[in-house]
Amino acid sequence: MQSSQKLALALTLVLIWCLAQSAVESRRRWRKSVHLKLHREANHTKILKSFHNQKLRLKEKLSPTTDVAISSLTASLASVAKDNLFNSHNTEYYVTASFGTPEAQKVTLLVDTASANLLVYTSEFVSESCTQHNGYSSSESQTYQANGSPFEIQFASQDVLKGFLSTDTFTLGDLAVRNQTFAEINSAPVNLCKRSNFDGILGLGLSQIALDGVKTPLDNILEQGLIDEPIFSLYVNRNASDASNGGVLLLGGADPTLYSGCLTYVPLSKVGFWQITVGQVAIGSKKLCSNCQAIFDMGTSLIIVPCPALKIINRKLGIKEADKKDGVYIIDCSKVSRLPNVVLNIGWKDFTLTPSDYVLNYSGTCVSGFSSLSACNGSGTPINDDGDDLNNIWVFGDVFFGAIFTLFDFGLKLVGMAPKV
Ligand SMILES: *[C@@H]1O[C@H](CO)[C@@H](O)[C@H](O)[C@H]1NC(C)=O
Ligand SMILES: *[C@@H]1O[C@H](CO)[C@@H](O)[C@H](O)[C@H]1NC(C)=O
Ligand SMILES: *[C@@H]1O[C@H](CO)[C@@H](O)[C@H](O)[C@H]1NC(C)=O
Ligand SMILES: *[C@@H]1O[C@H](CO)[C@@H](O)[C@H](O)[C@H]1NC(C)=O
Ligand SMILES: *[C@@H]1O[C@H](CO)[C@@H](O)[C@H](O)[C@H]1NC(C)=O
Repeated sequence: MQSSQKLALALTLVLIWCLAQSAVESRRRWRKSVHLKLHREANHTKILKSFHNQKLRLKEKLSPTTDVAISSLTASLASVAKDNLFNSHNTEYYVTASFGTPEAQKVTLLVDTASANLLVYTSEFVSESCTQHNGYSSSESQTYQANGSPFEIQFASQDVLKGFLSTDTFTLGDLAVRNQTFAEINSAPVNLCKRSNFDGILGLGLSQIALDGVKTPLDNILEQGLIDEPIFSLYVNRNASDASNGGVLLLGGADPTLYSGCLTYVPLSKVGFWQITVGQVAIGSKKLCSNCQAIFDMGTSLIIVPCPALKIINRKLGIKEADKKDGVYIIDCSKVSRLPNVVLNIGWKDFTLTPSDYVLNYSGTCVSGFSSLSACNGSGTPINDDGDDLNNIWVFGDVFFGAIFTLFDFGLKLVGMAPKV
């Protein structure tokens, strides 16, 4: 066969594979699956998440044998940024869920792919010290089963959430998950309550990172036959003027109308976090890394990159160290349209992030979508470098999900990606 024939054959095979795949995806869509609407913070004066001590939390999470785990949620827990950036882009995504029967106790949960437990405030704690939130009251539920084991989770900075385990029916969309064990939180920093908009957290991580060996919501949903496929997918909307429409969380499938082309599947490089090997990342013509490790974390706002990569990115974006405010870098909005694309090569496919994907515009204050875990010095070296692997990890946060539709397969341990429509 001539090489042009070979190429034609290869392209045909790819096309057939793609069509077959989207047929599978469409079927999946109509099988047992649930489409949950994500919503966002509607209050545009909310403060941007900051990234202090994020390293600590990741480090702890990477060794989930410890009783006290650190969640991915820098979210509202990290120290508050001093500059109140107007957050019209919204950096946290929530779903509405409920606990207990027969009366559904409605709550708002933060969606997090880098933790694997379900948490909710108790109604007592809420009425005593966290009044603008909703909580769960076991005494009002007929399906409550006591457990009582102590539970503790540590977030960024020194914030610790404490409580105990309980079991009850947990409802997500129209899926009633029976016997779901979760943590009732009865102790949390006052500031967390004030700053956050969620009443609990829905961890969509793998069972390997679940604290106290609690069966994850995903595993229960699958085992109870509420979905057919061990899959969920995320479509994140970043339209600033449409805050209530945050996108969708699809449990049990994907929706080909939400992405273009075929999904590119990549196996997890390490089963724990949703973690893959990225072939290459480049900004313009400059390579940032090859065979880099990346974690998918919906609980992180930006894309977290290693110091040497951040140094190159900032140079390309015309950012100086003096432009750094509380862990994020301010960019001159007028220059945004002339900035280069960032190209992620994943599974031999290029995924492009344009400046409008990676720059957040807070009513005229433009912020780079890239930051680092630890502070970096002028030569692109982490300050206080303790030589651990975390300094080399990429964290794909909401800036990534804003551009790329992502499917998570907890059966085959794969991640699938395609550009959003
Ligand atoms: C929005 O949040 C700010 C800061 O937390 C607060 O001062 C303001 O009252 C909130 N506005 C509304 C409408 O909730
Ligand atoms: C839930 O727990 C109850 C009591 O332990 C048990 O009878 C029931 O079969 C369990 N249901 C499921 C779906 O696991
Ligand atoms: C953003 O949302 C607003 C309000 O729903 C809509 O009018 C506008 O077309 C949307 N913009 C984009 C780029 O989708
Ligand atoms: C940023 O937002 C401001 C006002 O909201 C707008 O006038 C400006 O064009 C935006 N700039 C970019 C680069 O998106
Ligand atoms: C950054 O840190 C490295 C390693 O500690 C050191 O070799 C380098 O000189 C530092 N660069 C600056 C500009 O401080």
